[in-house]
Amino acid sequence: MSQNYNFPKNFHFGSATSSYQIEGAVNEDGRKPSIWDEFAHKSGRIADHSTGDIACDHYHLWPEDLALMSKMNFDAYRFSIAWPRVIPDGRGAVNQKGLDFYDRLVDALLERGIAPYATLYHWDLPLALPGGWLNRDTAKAFAEYTEVVVRRLGDRVHSWATLNEPRCSATVGYQEGRHAPGEMDRTKALTAAHNLLLAHGLAVPVLRAATRKAKVGIVLDIKPYYPASVSNTAAQAAIDGDGVFNRWFFDPIAKGHYPADTWAGFGEHVPTVEDGDMALISAPIDSVGLNYYSRGFVEQDKSVRFPHAKEIRNPASGYTEMGWEIYPQGLHDMLVRLHRDYPEIPDFYIAENGAAMADELVDGKVSDPVREQYYRDHIQAVSDAIAKGVPMSAYLAWSFMDNFEWGFGYTRRFGIVYVDYPTQQRVVKQSGQWFADFIAGQKALR
Ligand code: FCB
Repeated sequence: MSQNYNFPKNFHFGSATSSYQIEGAVNEDGRKPSIWDEFAHKSGRIADHSTGDIACDHYHLWPEDLALMSKMNFDAYRFSIAWPRVIPDGRGAVNQKGLDFYDRLVDALLERGIAPYATLYHWDLPLALPGGWLNRDTAKAFAEYTEVVVRRLGDRVHSWATLNEPRCSATVGYQEGRHAPGEMDRTKALTAAHNLLLAHGLAVPVLRAATRKAKVGIVLDIKPYYPASVSNTAAQAAIDGDGVFNRWFFDPIAKGHYPADTWAGFGEHVPTVEDGDMALISAPIDSVGLNYYSRGFVEQDKSVRFPHAKEIRNPASGYTEMGWEIYPQGLHDMLVRLHRDYPEIPDFYIAENGAAMADELVDGKVSDPVREQYYRDHIQAVSDAIAKGVPMSAYLAWSFMDNFEWGFGYTRRFGIVYVDYPTQQRVVKQSGQWFADFIAGQKALR
């Protein structure tokens, strides 16, 4: 397929990672455990029984990693800050050594002309916080932690995101039990989701007060739902699936209320909302980062709980190693729809997009043509959405390098750079080389 890309001159291309997935050094320089350290070590639910103890050893190898990012022509890099490095007990004493690490990282990025995109929370909650996200006070603790970080890094960060994927933290962590803290209870998941949204709402004014130029926002995972047949029931399953996955988070942030149909569908499981919560949660923001991987292709199945949506395999599509359908059209459709339905959001960027493949290092090379095509087609989808008037400012690939893929441990590789874990050697994959050349081409047009 031939491509026809058209991006604004100030558009950023780069990639993303997160702290627990790459840093390692879990006991160094004052860091204390997060819920993920405990979950990885004790739950028995990581596919290969691995942990993030060493991961990509980025805590030590970051200068080399940044040099590689320069070589790959990145305009931007999205990383997350580990709360348990900065405030090891979640609240109270600040660990300067933890802050120093991110201070150095940000300066080194700026020296290389790479715009820092910082996420304050990518799932590594300090273990010491009582009750985790089930406790409303955790939202206040998050605002305090935000203040400590933004006072130090401030406007040197180009774009601040409060949370990564509150949907995933809440649903996969508190209802499906596949992520930390491993709970399996819908009421708890919806309570956690509300406290996460509240944490975002409390942190926005803190970020605003300490910055003038930086963009302030959040990162949400998106999944467009399509009926798998022409029946009314399949159409309803798509509407309900969309409510649970997308609108439950976009509506509070953009409009200040939960979606009424989804609220009704959740029945007795809905969270307690206190006066003033929704006004905080809907504080105006500058941008929303979007994580897109796949779509929902569904039939209604009343034997499963609300949204009664059963995923159907599409024989016409390719699937990644995660079992996720490759569907670039869904990214285009979702961007156009989000801009139409949420005009309150002034800017979007792709904070994550990518594919897990069964990569192999052969003669020092990794050939991953399917991932290269995935990137070509999804970047085209973004370009097409921009042509239709969707305001977009960046495209960040997930991930810069292979890393600890949560419940899948090291059995899934998402990098555009291959990591040979025993030697910690980095090898740019075919897709990574394509991306680097693509960015060079875009820069030449600016
Ligand atoms: C997203 C996460 C990211 C990574 C990708 C594959 O949900 O934000 O850390 O695991 O999925």
